[in-house]
Amino acid sequence: MSSVLEINDLHVKVASRDILRGVSLTMHSGEVHVIMGPNGSGKSTLAHALTGRPGYEITKGSVKLDGTELLNLPPDERARLGLMLALQQPLEVRGVRPVELLVAAGANPVGIKERIREEAELVDLRPELLDRFVNVDLSGGERKRAEMVQLGILRPKFAVLDEIDSGLDVDALGAVARRLQLATTQWSCGVLAITHFRRLLQELTPDVIHVMSEGRIVTSGGPELAETLERDGYEPFRSLSD
Ligand SMILES: Nc1ncnc2c1ncn2[C@@H]1O[C@H](COP(=O)(O)OP(=O)(O)O)[C@@H](O)[C@H]1O
Ligand SMILES: [Mg+2]
Repeated sequence: MSSVLEINDLHVKVASRDILRGVSLTMHSGEVHVIMGPNGSGKSTLAHALTGRPGYEITKGSVKLDGTELLNLPPDERARLGLMLALQQPLEVRGVRPVELLVAAGANPVGIKERIREEAELVDLRPELLDRFVNVDLSGGERKRAEMVQLGILRPKFAVLDEIDSGLDVDALGAVARRLQLATTQWSCGVLAITHFRRLLQELTPDVIHVMSEGRIVTSGGPELAETLERDGYEPFRSLSD
């Protein structure tokens, strides 16, 4: 079944400042959308608003997954409906092991250890690292790979990843990008990736690239837009946001 994620005219206030000023974006199952934009343009704010983080006040707009309004729902409910969010800084959860977290998030416990092992192999992660508490004593690259294991087990309809490339070496970046690309065909996962770097796009093929500036998406286009950005930077797009 094909799913649709519709962000419509989203306005978000943080610490009494208007940060998002009308973001609209529609994506379907199996698509890869990439959001690029300068620091402070509101990319992480969008990710936090989608996940329902406290302190991010929605003043206008809607976010619907297959027609269901998500903005009224608590974060765990959003996740259960099929939205997964990978944060820039994955959290350490002492006292909880990945398998427990996955089962609590709705994964089928039958055979889960074996599936975790398979998913870990897919991203070249030593499976024994997943016997530790969630993210505790893992490097940045190992945490991102562990997050890809979570993705492969939970199989969300849409995965939103904030700055997936921050702090990753080339090998980890490639493993993450390839896992995401595979997910788009394995279960038609829709991927919304927020990134600064074009390097990610060598192994994750975007259908649409959106440029964010000052709280709005000012331009959307095909993969060739990444080359324009590389060449000209964000400055030519800045004036479009007023
Ligand atoms: N928790 C917060 N408290 C105050 N200001 C914030 C907070 N989060 C984000 N902002 C502000 O919102 C703007 C957009 O930030 P952010 O969404 O992190 O941008 P990006 O991810 O594109 O770099 C910035 O001006 C930032 O200072
Ligand atoms: Mg950010």
